[in-house]
Amino acid sequence: MTDDLVINFQDQGNLFNFLRDLPVLLTVEEAQLLYRLAQRSLAAGVIVEIGSFRGGSAIILAKGVAEGNGNKVYAIDPLPLLEKKLLIKENLKKAGVADRVELIFQKSETVVRNWNKPISLLWIDGSKDYDNPKLDFLAWEKFLIKGGVIAFHDSRQSINVAPNSGRLIPGFVGTERVVKKYLIDSPRFIKIRFIDSITFAKKIKNPGWREIFSRWSFLNRIKIKRKIEKFDQLLGRLGQWLEKKSPSVYRLIKKIKP
Ligand SMILES: C[S@@+](CC[C@H](N)C(=O)[O-])C[C@H]1O[C@@H](n2cnc3c(N)ncnc32)[C@H](O)[C@@H]1O
Repeated sequence: MTDDLVINFQDQGNLFNFLRDLPVLLTVEEAQLLYRLAQRSLAAGVIVEIGSFRGGSAIILAKGVAEGNGNKVYAIDPLPLLEKKLLIKENLKKAGVADRVELIFQKSETVVRNWNKPISLLWIDGSKDYDNPKLDFLAWEKFLIKGGVIAFHDSRQSINVAPNSGRLIPGFVGTERVVKKYLIDSPRFIKIRFIDSITFAKKIKNPGWREIFSRWSFLNRIKIKRKIEKFDQLLGRLGQWLEKKSPSVYRLIKKIKP
């Protein structure tokens, strides 16, 4: 772990000035990504955030979308204590985005029951166990429009941002499992990409040949990697067998093939 991984929003100039006094649970690169995704989100849908805490990412999304189509951000988080609820309201107000963010102090699974708005950007950053992100994906994904983007935070167990420090530490297994099982396997998502601990992807409904190819090539790389591993294992086993049966031939082959 090195100090250059510590978040320093102060160094980001005006872009992230509004985050100075907040505990932001994102790296600078993740924050920049969210800002861009919000800025480019499609006008046909709203932005939904699951898990808001003190409002760090909601503020980034609101600032981004203000530069784009001007739609609303729906920030969903039960935040049980009154004090916490007041804090997020205060932070949104300070950042000048209180009008753009609709706070919903309920669990995502409760909110989705009566949800009916199309979504252009779905940002999942709630509980980090397996069941919650799974439920969030399965329940909310149907509202994501064609061309909309889904993004999961803390989705790579090797990388995570430690609260209040911005340091990268070993992350959460649950969200990574959900991403592998549901997002990567879903034929409705293409252009699956990673920035630090965020996995994001674009939704399609009727894939054209370009999309099929890009998905195919992404998955193909994984398949090829698996095949290579299997092949290596097989070669290893063959080598062991040959070494026992005919050590002289084995030594000769080893000489020819470094
Ligand atoms: C990591 S924090 C979110 C950080 C925030 N997105 C940011 O970048 O500043 C996770 C939040 O998810 C909330 N949460 C947990 N379970 C939830 C659920 N079922 N629905 C909505 N929010 C949930 C927690 O209350 C907590 O505030």
